[in-house]
Amino acid sequence: MFVPDINFLTLNDLPGILRINAGLSWSWPEEVIRSDLSQDSNSELSYIGAFATNPSMEAPLLGYAVLGREKRLGVLMALLVDKHFQRRGIGSQLLLAVSDCAVYLNMKRLILRVRKSNVAAIALYSAMSFTSERVRQGYYSNGEDAIVMSAKLPLISGVRS
Ligand SMILES: CC(C)(COP(=O)(O)OP(=O)(O)OC[C@H]1O[C@@H](n2cnc3c(N)ncnc32)[C@H](O)[C@@H]1OP(=O)(O)O)[C@@H](O)C(=O)NCCC(=O)NCCS
Repeated sequence: MFVPDINFLTLNDLPGILRINAGLSWSWPEEVIRSDLSQDSNSELSYIGAFATNPSMEAPLLGYAVLGREKRLGVLMALLVDKHFQRRGIGSQLLLAVSDCAVYLNMKRLILRVRKSNVAAIALYSAMSFTSERVRQGYYSNGEDAIVMSAKLPLISGVRS
């Protein structure tokens, strides 16, 4: 397992976010992320990043998550780990940080939507105490179904350390 430094992201981290997003079939446009991260933003989104602890590494941002809210419900808007650093516990550690942040913000549950075909993410979420609530048929632009999953906060990790 890899133990990253976890911290809130700022506009300085935009290049790292864009690097992680590169190669994805879809990601939020740069201008949207830039606006969310700018100091005068009214955005209620929290961007949380996992950084390499070894400063000699060229690409210190290894993954990030975005937490939004709908009243007292937390919404996991994004979770991404650099493809070269996947399967080292970074996604699960980011989720635990999101959980801490959501609890601090007085949220009681965390929900998310995930592509039905995204075996890796569904396995991760299941190991982190999420359960499937329902299916939203044809939710994505290519017609794929979304599975809506939710978990009581704080999250409980069943991932081996
Ligand atoms: C999903 C994602 C964030 C997981 O991040 P990660 O850092 O690799 O996850 P972790 O190393 O913390 O994995 C924890 C557990 O999740 C499950 N898991 C993660 N990736 C898996 C995979 N490819 N296949 C099966 N199970 C997987 C395993 O149970 C794993 O525990 P183990 O390694 O001890 O078996 C990463 O694969 C990713 O960025 N994918 C592309 C973006 C994406 O799909 N995001 C989710 C959108 S809803």
